[in-house]
Amino acid sequence: MSFFYPTSPNDPVLKNISFTAEPGQTVAFIGSTGCGKTSLVQLIPRMYDVSSGRILIDGVDIREYNIHDLRDKIGFIPQKAQLFTGTITENLRFGNPDASMDELMRAADIAQASDFISKRENGFNDMLAEGGSNLSGGQKQRLAIARGIVKNPEIYVFDDSFSALDYSTDLKLRTRLRKEIKDATMLIVAQRIGTIRHADKIIVLDEGRIVGQGTHEELMKNCRIYYDIAASQLSKEELI
Ligand SMILES: Nc1ncnc2c1ncn2[C@@H]1O[C@H](COP(=O)(O)OP(=O)(O)OP(=O)(O)O)[C@@H](O)[C@H]1O
Ligand SMILES: [Mg+2]
Repeated sequence: MSFFYPTSPNDPVLKNISFTAEPGQTVAFIGSTGCGKTSLVQLIPRMYDVSSGRILIDGVDIREYNIHDLRDKIGFIPQKAQLFTGTITENLRFGNPDASMDELMRAADIAQASDFISKRENGFNDMLAEGGSNLSGGQKQRLAIARGIVKNPEIYVFDDSFSALDYSTDLKLRTRLRKEIKDATMLIVAQRIGTIRHADKIIVLDEGRIVGQGTHEELMKNCRIYYDIAASQLSKEELI
């Protein structure tokens, strides 16, 4: 698959991309800023269409699904959490208006959001200001993740959705997520090696190309770019 933005047809941002992700698997994407991670994952819910090649879900080209059916299958948690003016409950129900209060609480719990929600004056009925501006970055991210869980999708796409969390919250959240949501496919874009090192498969992108694909251990041996990213972070992580 290859992709260029309609506005820059002479400048493909993704070249010869090919990979598979199975149900129950976590596939991670890492690479320097601007290498094409967001461009890649946003093709899955068809924010844009591939320029050549194809993307299949359950063996079917995504362009053959009704767009609403396709997007129903996907929980996309964008790089910048998009919350709207309304209560926490309303925000969480965005992807699934019929979700019960129990489901909302379970999702908040998995997303490590229960504590700060319960500390707010009105709990789940607390009003969020426009864009969630009365929350911290990490709180916004956790609500966006909880909202994704409430939707109960087949495929989760986390575009750098853990970046504002401290490492221990990030770890707790991902551990709970994988424990409770076994069948979904999870695609995780991240900057931190710690967020992705236990993924079933890690895809290393550089300037729109895949330069490495494998587990953390394999890439540490075989992929210079991955090794360099890890080396630049290792000491930091060891300190945590
Ligand atoms: N809407 C757009 N139109 C044209 N070019 C774009 C658009 N969005 C991104 N690009 C370009 O595509 C390339 C890849 O950007 P992308 O956002 O996919 O990178 P990224 O790996 O997600 O980076 P980051 O880690 O900073 O989020 C960049 O050169 C960027 O300038
Ligand atoms: Mg991005």
